[in-house]
Amino acid sequence: MSGRPEPDREQLLAAYAVPERATPRIRMNFVMSLDGAVTLDGRSGGLGDPADRLAMGVLRTLADVVLVGAGTVRAEGYGGLRLSPENVAWRREHGLGDVPRIAVVSAALDLDPRDPVFAEAEGRPLVLTHAASDPVRRAALAEVADLVDCGADRVEAALVRDALAERGLPQILCEGGPHLFGTLIDADLADELCLSLSPLLVSGSAGRIAQGLSQHARRMRLVHALPAGDLLLLRYARAR
Ligand SMILES: NC(=O)c1ccc[n+]([C@@H]2O[C@H](COP(=O)([O-])OP(=O)(O)OC[C@H]3O[C@@H](n4cnc5c(N)ncnc54)[C@H](OP(=O)(O)O)[C@@H]3O)[C@@H](O)[C@H]2O)c1
Repeated sequence: MSGRPEPDREQLLAAYAVPERATPRIRMNFVMSLDGAVTLDGRSGGLGDPADRLAMGVLRTLADVVLVGAGTVRAEGYGGLRLSPENVAWRREHGLGDVPRIAVVSAALDLDPRDPVFAEAEGRPLVLTHAASDPVRRAALAEVADLVDCGADRVEAALVRDALAERGLPQILCEGGPHLFGTLIDADLADELCLSLSPLLVSGSAGRIAQGLSQHARRMRLVHALPAGDLLLLRYARAR
């Protein structure tokens, strides 16, 4: 352990404060090992620690909706979003519902309607897909979620953001995964990256936090770098 003081919840709420809630914003949140791995044993959990989880709870508290790709739902077993009583109280004081909505991006709709992401959700989840997706799977998922078409035959990232904003959910916290992040970088729609740099070297063949079709250089500026023990909480925003 470093013996360094760790930021508390109040400090994190101030550090990640949203300047203006009406303007749509896509904020990414990832945890990554020092050597760039996005997973340990196939999941993100082994990379994080209590400080990272505190920051994640704060980021969820500040969000209108948590956006995830179907691959992350399948790998991580996304249950209902739970917030601490303090964070629920903060949301109520600020006129927000108790927890953010959840929205899942999927083209193939290879999602089980009995999955905890639907069964344990507090509000009705959104499934963001395209108009040509499989009709049988659409019908099954429509029992448990609101399906929204964000494109004719593929999911278009700009339509994802617009669909959420139109539903009163402009503050979008995207918790991955790498393919969804890649799509958002391709479309130049990632406004912020909140990255927990975990003090682990893991090697192996795990992927990185973004996987896209082509490379782009999107310049970001550092908003903060907060040590939390040996972990580093980095907040970057799009450079204007
Ligand atoms: N370290 C971290 O912070 C962190 C965070 C998140 C995830 N992860 C890890 O990342 C891994 C999953 O990676 P992944 O890249 O497969 O995750 P992902 O981006 O969540 O999932 C990819 C799937 O999501 C859907 N999708 C994503 N972008 C789409 C788009 N633009 N259009 C249509 N569908 C889209 C597709 O689902 P369909 O196949 O249903 O069409 C696609 O197959 C897991 O091991 C997870 O643990 C780590």
